[in-house]
Parts: sequence; structure tokens; C-alpha cells
Amino acid sequence: MEFSALSTPLVEIETAALAVGVYTEKTLSPAAMELDKATQGAITAVLEDGEFKAKPKSHLVLRQLPGVAAQRIVLVGLGDKEKYNTKTHFEAEKQFAAYCVNANLKQAVSTLAANDCAGSSLRVRARAAAQAAVLCTYRYDQTLSKKSDPIALTGLALWVPKTQDAEAKAGLREGQALGQGQNLARLLGDLPPNVCTPAYLGGQAKQLAQDFPQIQAEVLGQKQIEALNMGAFLSVAKGSAQPPVFIELKYTPENGSDEAPIVLVGKGLTFDSGGISIKPANNMDEMKYDMCGAASVLGTFYALAKIGIDRPVVGLIAACENMPSSTANKPGDIVTAKSGATIEVLNTDAEGRLVLCDALTYAERFKPEAVINMATLTGACVVALGHHNSGLFTNNERLKNELLEAAREANDPAWPLPIDDTYQEQLKSNFADIANIGTPGAGAITAACFLARFTEKYAWAHLDIAGTAWNSGANKGATGRPVPLLFSYLLDQGNE
Ligand code: BES
Ligand code: MN
Ligand code: ZN
Repeated sequence: MEFSALSTPLVEIETAALAVGVYTEKTLSPAAMELDKATQGAITAVLEDGEFKAKPKSHLVLRQLPGVAAQRIVLVGLGDKEKYNTKTHFEAEKQFAAYCVNANLKQAVSTLAANDCAGSSLRVRARAAAQAAVLCTYRYDQTLSKKSDPIALTGLALWVPKTQDAEAKAGLREGQALGQGQNLARLLGDLPPNVCTPAYLGGQAKQLAQDFPQIQAEVLGQKQIEALNMGAFLSVAKGSAQPPVFIELKYTPENGSDEAPIVLVGKGLTFDSGGISIKPANNMDEMKYDMCGAASVLGTFYALAKIGIDRPVVGLIAACENMPSSTANKPGDIVTAKSGATIEVLNTDAEGRLVLCDALTYAERFKPEAVINMATLTGACVVALGHHNSGLFTNNERLKNELLEAAREANDPAWPLPIDDTYQEQLKSNFADIANIGTPGAGAITAACFLARFTEKYAWAHLDIAGTAWNSGANKGATGRPVPLLFSYLLDQGNE
């Protein structure tokens, strides 16, 4: 899709569909007001009628208004004007883009980013507009015998004041890269676990390195992982016929900056059966999504290389399967992590922390500015926060604030949860340095506390995305979260 900006007078814009925002209480956006005037009140007439209440996630199409060059005016509901924020703006752009895609329109213009909203710049709103449009073009058809029809929508233009043309274009470029990176993460999540194996993720990393000169990828196999003494990671992998893969991605900015890198670490369980502590059969298929942390690393690398941010970034992925077999971890086994710590595996289903702890120890070698890991780590996090917020755990106050600001800006919310030392007592083992599960209660927190033991040497944050990485039910599918949060954070860091 091509994105552009224009400042033509509204009535003169020739397009299949022109989006204008309307707030509740019959309150018009400036663009709606201008069109209303030019059409002798065509918009106010519709609002008086009560047909369109301008609620968020609603729209109404008006066709062939006299004196208007656009074939359709799409009124998009923005909700209450006082409550209008980056989230409602993003929803409104999605509403319009979804309409255009479903109606098979070829080209469209949106005025929505021109509407001011609290705590956002035009650039961030333009970013959201392009991101929304790209997300609407995602169709999973990889494993269907009938492929979906190509998307007709090939052009989206933003109507913005002439003086903000450059800002809009910069935001559009960012949003397009973000949407594409997020769609890559969605596809990797949605692919079946017999296709998206650890080796497949390794292939994706190599592909990124081929597509972008700023990215280098190294894909380590069993032998090399053994040489790195990643005993905790290897113990999870050993129950499966699929060999484990450890991926190291390096992004070097074109300015050759040698600043300390930001390291992103992803949990890459391409299937989590639970192992010997096997999971119940119901919905076990959804454990193909247990690699969504890894997918978010790959998606973010795609987006940041496409846009060319000014900051070195390292990506680490520990990928394997967790399966029951005679070679699998058994409850009671004690394994030795790369750090030298011994771990009693009381539950083989608490495998995410076992693969992550070794990747987090490996991260020390980069002398990182910050390390952020993403993991579908605990069902307990879903109990605590549901499907809206990712859980945020960190040992650094500044990193916490930066991530929360990025989350807000990107409409990819996270909520802080505590990791005080008192919870560490729940991880006590009689036979090893640490147990891999805590005593009952606070499961998301004890999992984070386990990781915290391996991250004392740097500023670190853990995002538990168990509730946010995919949707269940009729709309089952990966969300591509937290790529938006990470991309926003990296853009902010690059601009400093
Ligand atoms: N991948 C799961 C977490 C998960 C479960 C995410 C359901 C989303 C939905 C993780 O490996 C796991 O099994 N965690 C256990 C930990 C427990 C054994 C301490 C869990 O949450 O039940
Ligand atoms: Mn598990
Ligand atoms: Zn898991």
C-alpha cells in the first residue's frame, strides 16, 4: 500500500472514500464542519435524524453529496470529544480502513489524524493511521487450499494542514513499517506448530538478515548451545524430536553508533504441551502461540530496520518445543543454568523461565543499556490482568516509565506488577538453588521473580504477554503485540 499526505480543499478531493470524524452530541470535527457547510448541512441533517450517534467503532457512509468530488463521505464515530485520545483515534482509523478493505475500494483519504487529541502529536496519529491500514490487510491463508483475494486498497492519503506535511509523511513511514512488522509477528504466531518449528524461526531470522543489510543473524544449533552451557534451556528441548535453536540478531544503525545496545529477548516455545506435567487437552492447540515473544522480536526487527532507527539493538530468541517423552525433564530433576545456578524442575510446564534464564545470562555479554524480554509466561498473568494489559515487571524505575509511555503512545498497554524480594521466598528449593515454580499465589509475580535472579547485572524489564499475544474463540488469531510497544520505545530511544 502507498501512503501519502495532501492538503487539497476537502470538497475537491477525488477519492473513493473520504473519512471525516464526528463526536457524540452532534459535535463535528473541523473537517466535518467544512463539508457540512459546503453541502448546506448534509451532515448535520443525518445527525439530527438520530441515524448516526458517532459512538466509537461505528461509521455511516454518505454517497454522492452534491458539490463534493469524493464518491463517499464516511462519517466515523469518535465518541465523546472530552475523552478523545490516541486509543479512540486508532480505533477510528481501523474502523475506516476495515470499511475500505471490505468494500474493495482502491484508494481512500482520511482526515482523522488532523483532529487534535490529548497527549499526541500529528506524527504519532499518522503512524497509527498507517499501522491501522496495514493491520486491516492481514489475511491468514498460508495453510488454506483457497488463497484469499488480493486486497484492492492500494493507496491511503492523510489530509493534513500543509505545514504538517513532513510530519505526516514521517509518521506514515513509521506506521507502515510497524504494521508490516506486526503482521509478520501475527503470521508467525498463527502458523501451525508443525510448520513454525524452532528451525523455521531460525530461517526467518536469516531471511531478515538477507532482506536488510543492517541486520546480521546467527542461528546456533544443539552443539553450539551445549558449548554455551545453557543447561536450563537444553533441558526443556531434550524431550522433543525437534532440535532447539538459539537466535542472535544484531541491528547496527547506518550512523555506525557504538552506543550500548538495547537487547530484546523472546520466549520461543513453538509448542508447549507442558511436558511430563502435561496440560489438559482443551485449547492445547493455542500453545502454538507460546512463541509469540520470539515473534515480537522478529517483527520488531523488521520494523526497526525498515525505518532505520539510530540505535544498536540485539535480539535473542531461545526456541524449542516442550514435549513429554522418555528423554524429557521429569518433576524433581535438577538442571544447571548457564549462570551456574541449579534449578529444581518441580513442574515441567514452567518451561518458559528455564529457556529465558539462559538467554538472559547470555545477554550480559553485550553490556546492554537495557534488556527487555517478552514471554507468554503465565496463565496467572491472564487471571490478574485479562486480555487488555501485558504484565510489566522491571528492576529499573526509568525503564518502567519509558515503557509505560511507549505503551500509551502505541495503544499497546501494559500494567506494572511488583517483584519485591519477599516473593523470592516462594521459590525456595530444598535441593537446588531455586525451584522453577513458586508456592501457591502470585504466579505471574513468582515467574518474574525467577527471571529477576538472572538479570541483576543490568536494567531489565519483563513483559508477560500471555493474555495479549493472541485472541481465542471465533476470532482466534495472533495480535502482533507487543511489537507496537517495543517499536515506540525504540523510536523514542533513537531520538534521544
Ligand atoms: N506457556 C504457558 C503459559 C500460558 C498458559 C500462557 C496459558 C497463556 C495461556 C507457560 O509455559 C506455563 O505453562 N505456565 C504455567 C506455570 C505453572 C506451571 C507454574 C501456568 O501458567 O500454568
Ligand atoms: Mn508451560
Ligand atoms: Zn510455555
